Amino acid sequence: MKKGTVFVCQNCGFRSPKWLGRCTMCGEYNTMVEELEEEVSVALSETGGEPVLYSEIKETAGQRIPVGIEPVNNVLGGGLVLGSVVLIGGEPGIGKSTLLLQVSKDLAGREQPVLYVSGEESLEQIKLRGDRLGLTGEKVYLLAETALERIVSVADRMNPRALVIDSVQTIFSSKLTSSPGTISQVREVTNQVFRLAKNKQIPVFLIGHITKDGTLAGPKSLEHMVDVVLLFEGERDHNHRVLRVLKNRFGPVSELAIFEMSQSGLKPIDNPSAFFLRERPKNEPGSVVVSTIKGTRPLLVEIQALVSSTLFSGNPRRMSIGLDHYRVSMLLALVEKKIGYSFAGEDIYLNVAGGLTVDEPAADLGVVLAVISSVKNIPLPREMAVFGEVGLSGEVRSVSQPVARVKEARSLGFELVLMPEGNLSQLTGENITGIKCLGVNSVKKALTQIF
Ligand SMILES: Nc1ncnc2c1ncn2[C@@H]1O[C@H](COP(=O)(O)OP(=O)(O)OP(=O)(O)O)[C@@H](O)[C@H]1O
Ligand SMILES: [Mg+2]
Ligand SMILES: [Zn+2]
Repeated sequence: MKKGTVFVCQNCGFRSPKWLGRCTMCGEYNTMVEELEEEVSVALSETGGEPVLYSEIKETAGQRIPVGIEPVNNVLGGGLVLGSVVLIGGEPGIGKSTLLLQVSKDLAGREQPVLYVSGEESLEQIKLRGDRLGLTGEKVYLLAETALERIVSVADRMNPRALVIDSVQTIFSSKLTSSPGTISQVREVTNQVFRLAKNKQIPVFLIGHITKDGTLAGPKSLEHMVDVVLLFEGERDHNHRVLRVLKNRFGPVSELAIFEMSQSGLKPIDNPSAFFLRERPKNEPGSVVVSTIKGTRPLLVEIQALVSSTLFSGNPRRMSIGLDHYRVSMLLALVEKKIGYSFAGEDIYLNVAGGLTVDEPAADLGVVLAVISSVKNIPLPREMAVFGEVGLSGEVRSVSQPVARVKEARSLGFELVLMPEGNLSQLTGENITGIKCLGVNSVKKALTQIF
């Protein structure tokens, strides 16, 4: 099938007869790699193309098996669907292999084994990890192999309860001459695995490496080929990891799971709010607790602000970690204009404690209060949580899910919630007792209430 060479964008799969510095399809720079031009097989149903009457279709698809780790079950939408292909992407070293070895351990039954294929680590290396995770008598079979056709034939013979491929970038098909990790190979691997999964009803986990900018070696281009796409994220300097859903053909994409990386592997964090607030300082100006929504669940996080006079006049610093930079700039401008502070000579730093990111407008009121608390050098009430979007005239606007936010604050022992006045009516009939809910309609009102 070889006809010469072609340049393929490793980000989106765009093919061009000549090299391009920038892909004309997706606009990424330096993503064109020369590959031999060859036919890439297409995943076709092996059952042929006869039309089937809707009511005669058997309900075999959609059958789920539970994964031992409960939060993973939830993220998948209530268990692992037989025959589904799940892609798990994550940065190097984040814990992808750890997570899937734990899942393999849980899935391996007495009769049916789990096949864990590694294209990047030796069996001894994996065993070392397994020892740490407490693997003993489970029927987990390890296979160190990079040849796709061999993997498929072993899996076909073994008929495992689940198949893990670690990672999709290291496996290659002998049908193609391009090297492992190129977009053609990654697609071919996914295609063949997809067919195996559907034909034998074996659920498959594909691990994919991605870098921060998401370009390297194209798992991005796989997202439409697989059934479920999960993202495993975390901060290098923190122990917690977040498993998120980007796509799910069998469930919602709003769930997420939070884990702590420990000596004995990933442990689900049962009470994430308590976990992220555990080191909150006592009576420090500039610290505020915000009741935010992560996925579908409420989460309390601490936002910290530090305002201090700048050393270099005329060029004050503005830094925010874990918050949207533009939104922060807007809120700072608003505090200057509407509340009457001048930040011209001040450096302003903002941080979400614990390395979390908060990207919803409901955190606005918290950001504003943290900054003002730091400027005034007066701590906010310690037993207070806040939420609310702030508009450009300094008005506090209602946000979604006020009940869940208030209840989460109450369950963590907070005594007061400062919230949008517009949300108060949604609390009636919700049996909210034991916590005071203070509604405000502007930042000014909020300030007179607390200071
Ligand atoms: N003894 C240990 N105690 C706690 N954490 C550990 C220990 N050993 C390893 N880890 C954690 O496990 C992480 C590596 O996990 P793992 O190998 O599963 O990641 P990965 O995403 O598969 O990486 P790669 O990209 O190299 O395949 C390390 O970054 C570290 O945080
Ligand atoms: Mg790994
Ligand atoms: Zn492209």
